[in-house]
Amino acid sequence: MNLRIAIFASGRGSNFQAILAAISAQRLKAQVVLCITNRPEAGALQIAGAAQIPAAVIEEKHFVNGADYEAALLAQLAKHEVNFIVLAGFMRKIPSGVVRQFRHRIVNIHPALLPSFGGKGMYGHRVHEAVLAHGCKVSGATVHLVDEEYDTGVPILQRCVPVLDDDTPETLAARVLEVEHQIYPEALQLFAEERIRVEGRRIKILPKS
Ligand code: GRF
Repeated sequence: MNLRIAIFASGRGSNFQAILAAISAQRLKAQVVLCITNRPEAGALQIAGAAQIPAAVIEEKHFVNGADYEAALLAQLAKHEVNFIVLAGFMRKIPSGVVRQFRHRIVNIHPALLPSFGGKGMYGHRVHEAVLAHGCKVSGATVHLVDEEYDTGVPILQRCVPVLDDDTPETLAARVLEVEHQIYPEALQLFAEERIRVEGRRIKILPKS
């Protein structure tokens, strides 16, 4: 499948950058054709600018209702012939019409091993604080399909990191982020190679043909 990706990002965009690096290194056969953000100050916009990728700032609060917001997102996606959505630190829920139209073609990355330490309000340093407060011995990252809820979609790839005795939320976040930057491009390449088969709540990864 020729992936024409839209990146949705609200923050610094290091996963966006890792995906672009994987494309440049030909580890990922895909094109990023659009970047959508809800924050004009998002670092992701600079990354898009430097890579000459079209970008759009779409803020829900500028629309009179949810339907108009959803229509604006869909219009941008159609304009750029996007066929795959990658959420990379996007801090807003995706309208259900967008999820429906991109069912099984919209993914997110979460900085913990879902279903632990996910859900509404579980983002950023809060995730790592909660992992440490619970005394977990491992954490990690999860790439998962996006459905209508927060962090409940089927996992595609998960990778562990150890939690060390002297970890702080910052040191743990950095270790997890390294793994995020590996597994996100890997997961996208599996889609590019059409090796992902969704079977209910399971994803089968087909062998390389
Ligand atoms: C990452 O930790 C990701 O797991 C989470 O948001 C963060 C985004 O970081 N969903 P970045 O903007 O990609 O650097």
